[in-house]
Amino acid sequence: MGAPVDSGARAPGCEMGPAAMRAAGVVATLAELGWDVEDLGDVRVDDVPAIAHSNPALHGLGETVAWTRALMDAAYAAARSGAYVLCLGGDHSLSAGTVAGVAKYAAELGRPQFVLWLDAHSDIHTLDTTVSGNLHGIPVAYFTGQSGFDPFPDVPHPVPAGNVCLLGMRSVDTAEGERLKETAMEFHDMREIDVRGVLVVLEGFLQRVSAAGGRLHVSLDVDFLDPGIAPAVTTPVAGGATLREAQLVMERLSDSGLVTSVDVAELNPFLDERGRTSKMLTDLVARLFGRTFLEAPTSTT
Ligand code: ARG
Ligand code: MN
Ligand code: MN
Ligand code: MN
Repeated sequence: MGAPVDSGARAPGCEMGPAAMRAAGVVATLAELGWDVEDLGDVRVDDVPAIAHSNPALHGLGETVAWTRALMDAAYAAARSGAYVLCLGGDHSLSAGTVAGVAKYAAELGRPQFVLWLDAHSDIHTLDTTVSGNLHGIPVAYFTGQSGFDPFPDVPHPVPAGNVCLLGMRSVDTAEGERLKETAMEFHDMREIDVRGVLVVLEGFLQRVSAAGGRLHVSLDVDFLDPGIAPAVTTPVAGGATLREAQLVMERLSDSGLVTSVDVAELNPFLDERGRTSKMLTDLVARLFGRTFLEAPTSTT
C-alpha cells in the first residue's frame, strides 16, 4: 500500500514517494521473485480535523492524526488478511499508524510485536518535546505508548520499549537523548556499527525476536543510508550506512524469516537524482524479499 503522507515534514515531496517506488518497478520486481503481490493503491484521508495544541511549533497535527488513524486501520486489515504488509511512504509519521496497526494484529494472535527502526534519527519526541514541530519525529514514542499524544487515537496494543531496536542513529535531539537513557529500548549508533559491524550489532536483536516467537516490523527511513548514495531525503545526515551495509541488513532479515511487515519512509523524489534513490530502495526491498546477487540487476544506481 502507498501512504503518501507529507504532513509530518515541512519540505514538500514525500507525497510522491509511493508513485516513485511504483515507477521504479517495485511491484513487478517482487512478483518476479515469486511473491503474489497485490497493490492496494494509496491509502487516503478525507476528514482532517482542526486541532489546537499548547506547543505552537507543531506542524500538520490534524492531518497527521487523520493519517495515523487511517494507516492503523489499513495496516491492521492487511496484516489480518494474512499478507506480508509493505507500506510505501510518505514521511516517517506514517509508522505511527502502521506499527500500531500491525501490533494490534500481533496481540490478537498472542504473539509479541518487535520493531527494527533503521534511521539516522530516533524519532522519539512527544508533542510536547519536539522543537521543530515536525511530526515525523514522534512515531517511536507514540507506538511504544508514551504519554503526550492526546489528540491521537489510542494505541490499542503499544509495543513494549524493550521490543524496539534503533539502528543507525547519528542525529538525536537533547530531549530524545534523555528519553533514550531511561528506556529499555535497544539502540546502536553509527560508531558502534563501524566498530563491530552491522551484522554483529543486529544479531542479538534477531535472536531475541526469534526466541520470543515474535513478529518483526521493519521501518526503513531512507536517511538510514548515507546521503551521498541516497540523496532523496528531507533530513539528510552525513555518515550513514553504506550500500553494502544496507543490503546486508536486508539480506540477513530475509534469511531470518522473521519479518512480517515493512515501511519505506521519507523518500522525497523531489530531491532525487534521476531516480537513483527510488531504484536503490526498490533493490533493498527486493533483498528483504529474497533477492540475492543471482537475481540482482547488474547495475542498480
Ligand atoms: N529530531 C529531528 C526533529 O524532530 C529530526 C527528525 C527527523 N525524522 C525523520 N523521520 N526524518 O525535527
Ligand atoms: Mn508538509
Ligand atoms: Mn530519519
Ligand atoms: Mn525517521
